[in-house]
Amino acid sequence: MRVLDLFSGLGGFSQGFRDRGHEVITVDIVREFNPSIQGDVRYLPIRESAHFDVILASPPCDDFSKAEKPWYDEDDYDIDRGMELVYVTKEIIDRLRPRFWVVENVRGAVKYFRHVFGPIRQRCGSRYLWGNFPRFHCRHEECYGKWELWSHPMRKALRSKIPYEISINLCKAIEWAMTTSLTEVEI
Ligand SMILES: C[S@@+](CC[C@H](N)C(=O)[O-])C[C@H]1O[C@@H](n2cnc3c(N)ncnc32)[C@H](O)[C@@H]1O
Repeated sequence: MRVLDLFSGLGGFSQGFRDRGHEVITVDIVREFNPSIQGDVRYLPIRESAHFDVILASPPCDDFSKAEKPWYDEDDYDIDRGMELVYVTKEIIDRLRPRFWVVENVRGAVKYFRHVFGPIRQRCGSRYLWGNFPRFHCRHEECYGKWELWSHPMRKALRSKIPYEISINLCKAIEWAMTTSLTEVEI
């Protein structure tokens, strides 16, 4: 399969796909993460003829994770800034039309993403997933992404890295669905 991983960070979302031998193109704005394409997703040149079987995307959650805190004051955070990358993600998915796509974010994003991607398709602990993909096995535990690394210089990137269990189980479920003729996954 050909897989496009947008906002790839430390590459957690697509690691399982890579390990199972699929071709993965990663895109991130931070050079230190060694993405295949280093740049701003907003300016990614899109060729409609480019073919991807799967698009994975985990847009930055900073503005949305704060939105669910009790002390949250809408005036202090810029939801529009967070949503800009979400709309760009939707546009890329619409233009490339992959057979499967998965967008990941936090609970605070649910009320905003609903209007763009519809209802959440699956929840894995603190990870919320939207898209067209077969549901897969994961433990509904809060441990996903909740561990702390107070003094680590890469704390933010490590905390947002998608756990391997999610990536590998999603990959296996999509591989299985690829063998069926369904275009819209209903499992
Ligand atoms: C939630 S993290 C991604 C975590 C990743 N999926 C993983 O498993 O490690 C969001 C990422 O988006 C990147 N990012 C933020 N704004 C971006 C932009 N405009 N274009 C491309 N990447 C961007 C950040 O550098 C960060 O690595």
